[in-house]
Amino acid sequence: MFFPEYRARRLRRNDNLRRMVRETHLRVEDLIYPMFSAFGRNIRKEIPSMPGIFQQSVEHIVTEAKEVHDLGIPAVLLFGIPEAKDPVGQDAYNERGIIQETIRAIKDAVPDLTVITDVCLCEYTDHGHCGVIRDGDVDNDETLQLLAAEALSHARAGADIVAPSDMMDGRVAAIRELLDANGFSHIPVMSYAVKYASAYYGPFRDAADSTPQFGDRRSYQMDPANRREAFREATLDEQECADFLMVKPALAYLDILRDLRERFDLPLVAYNVSGEYSMIKAAAEKGWIDEERVMMETLLGMKRAGADLIITYHAKEAARLLR
Ligand code: PBG
Ligand code: ZN
Repeated sequence: MFFPEYRARRLRRNDNLRRMVRETHLRVEDLIYPMFSAFGRNIRKEIPSMPGIFQQSVEHIVTEAKEVHDLGIPAVLLFGIPEAKDPVGQDAYNERGIIQETIRAIKDAVPDLTVITDVCLCEYTDHGHCGVIRDGDVDNDETLQLLAAEALSHARAGADIVAPSDMMDGRVAAIRELLDANGFSHIPVMSYAVKYASAYYGPFRDAADSTPQFGDRRSYQMDPANRREAFREATLDEQECADFLMVKPALAYLDILRDLRERFDLPLVAYNVSGEYSMIKAAAEKGWIDEERVMMETLLGMKRAGADLIITYHAKEAARLLR
C-alpha cells in the first residue's frame, strides 16, 4: 500500500462510505444509568457539581426510571442515601432500607428495566469508609459478611444484578456463596474488579454523601500507577465467578480496558465516573467545547478501548441522540 496508488481518503469521501467502514458502534443497549435514591418524600435535589443528576426520593426515582426505560436504556445502577448512618452501615442490609424500598418500587412500576445495585457500605457508614473499621483501617474479613448480607437483601428485594464496589479481597466469592445458598444462583455479580483510588470520584461523594470522615481509600482501592495489578484483580474475580468485570474510572484508564478486553472473555464494563461527567458539563457551560460531540466521542472511545457496557451519567442524553 503506497501513495499515490493507495489513498486512505477514498473511504472517507461521504457519509455512506464512512458509515460502511465504521468499526465501532455505540448503541443504546450499551448504556447503564446511575441513580441516587434519597430517604424521604418529595425530594429532588440537583447535585451542584453534576448538572442534570439528582438526589431524589422514591416517587421521583420511579418517574425517572420510566423515562429511562422509554428511552430504550436497558438498566439502571442504584445508590442509596439512607435516613441514618452508623459504624456498620445497617441500612445497607435492612429489608426496609432505602435501596430495598427503591428496588421494589422500580420493579413494581417498570418490571422490564434491569435493576443493578451498588453493593458497598460507604453510603451507609457514619465514617464514610467502605467497610467496618478496626484499628483505624477497614477490616477485610469482617466486612465480607456484611457485603454478602447486603447483596442478598438486594436480591430478595428484586435486584436483577448486584455490583460490589468496595474492593475487599474475596468479596465476589462471599457474595456468590450466600446468594447460591439462598436460592439466588441466577443473579449475576457485576464486579468493580479494577477500581482505582481516584480523585475523579469527588462529585459522586457529594451526590452519595459518602466522603470518608478520616483518611482515604488507598488501603483498599488500587494505586493509579499499576497495570499488572489490574490483571491480578481481574483474575481473582474471574476465579470467584464474577459475571461481569468493570474498570473504573474509564477515561484515564482506557489502556486497562484494552488490556482486560484482550485477556478476559467476560463482558467488560467501563464506569464513566462523576468527575469525568462534571468536566464535560463545566467546559460546555463555559462554551469551551461542543458538549454533544465531546460526550459521544468520549463514550465511543470507551467502546473502542474494549468496553461492552458503559455506566454513565450521560446515558439519557446519549440515548436521545442514538434514537
Ligand atoms: C462506592 C462507589 C463510589 C463510586 C461508585 N461506587 C465512590 C468511591 O469509591 O469513593 C464512584 C462513582 C462516580 O464517581 O461516579 N464505593
Ligand atoms: Zn464504598
